[in-house]
Amino acid sequence: RGRPLLAPSLLAADPLCMAASIDRLGGEADALHVDVMDGRYVPNISYGPGLVRALRDRYAEAVLDVHLMVDEPERGIEAFAAAGADYLTVHVEATRHLHRLLGHIRELGCRPGVTLNPGTPVEWLRPVVHLVDLVLVMSVNPGFGGQTFLPEVLSKVRTLCQWRAVDGLSFLIEMDGGLGPANGADVVRTGCDILVAGSSVFGAADPLLALRDLRRTAQG
Ligand code: DX5
Ligand code: ZN
Repeated sequence: RGRPLLAPSLLAADPLCMAASIDRLGGEADALHVDVMDGRYVPNISYGPGLVRALRDRYAEAVLDVHLMVDEPERGIEAFAAAGADYLTVHVEATRHLHRLLGHIRELGCRPGVTLNPGTPVEWLRPVVHLVDLVLVMSVNPGFGGQTFLPEVLSKVRTLCQWRAVDGLSFLIEMDGGLGPANGADVVRTGCDILVAGSSVFGAADPLLALRDLRRTAQG
């Protein structure tokens, strides 16, 4: 479908009607973004491997983009890999052994991703970019949907693009938080390959129209 790829965040879908919400996207989402929260790393609790397994069972072909907002993610990755996650993204702030963890995620058969909070310098990722398939740049403080986009994180995307070119790497750059038709084009122009969108898609009266609208505007 071309760039950008769009990953609706299920956090904004009605938890009692998850499948119905996904089906309303008509198969036009490039990935499903699954926000896992443990009530420790972030002040909110969402869901765990059980939801990933249920999604995998029902949507065999879907790309499941699992964003782990949990402390010590090394304790949980095996369960998420077994449940059928494709991308497994961990926070640089949440583990003491990031390098080892990213290698372990790949050994488990998943695509490793790494992410960082708005207040964390992008330089923290410099030693591990060659190990990942995805770098997620948080554009809100993690924990909740429906927050306002923080434009100051865009400079991190520029830095990541430079590193990627200099090192000849091919990781994808994803942005998450406060994205919609009003800022999608800017974010893509800066260099993002994947946009996560929660409330701007599932909060709309017609999520499929909202997804198409975001695609149209973000393609510029
Ligand atoms: C925030 C989550 C996001 C969130 C995005 O902690 O990581 O994925 O669901 O929601 P919106 O698009 O509503 O900001
Ligand atoms: Zn997320």
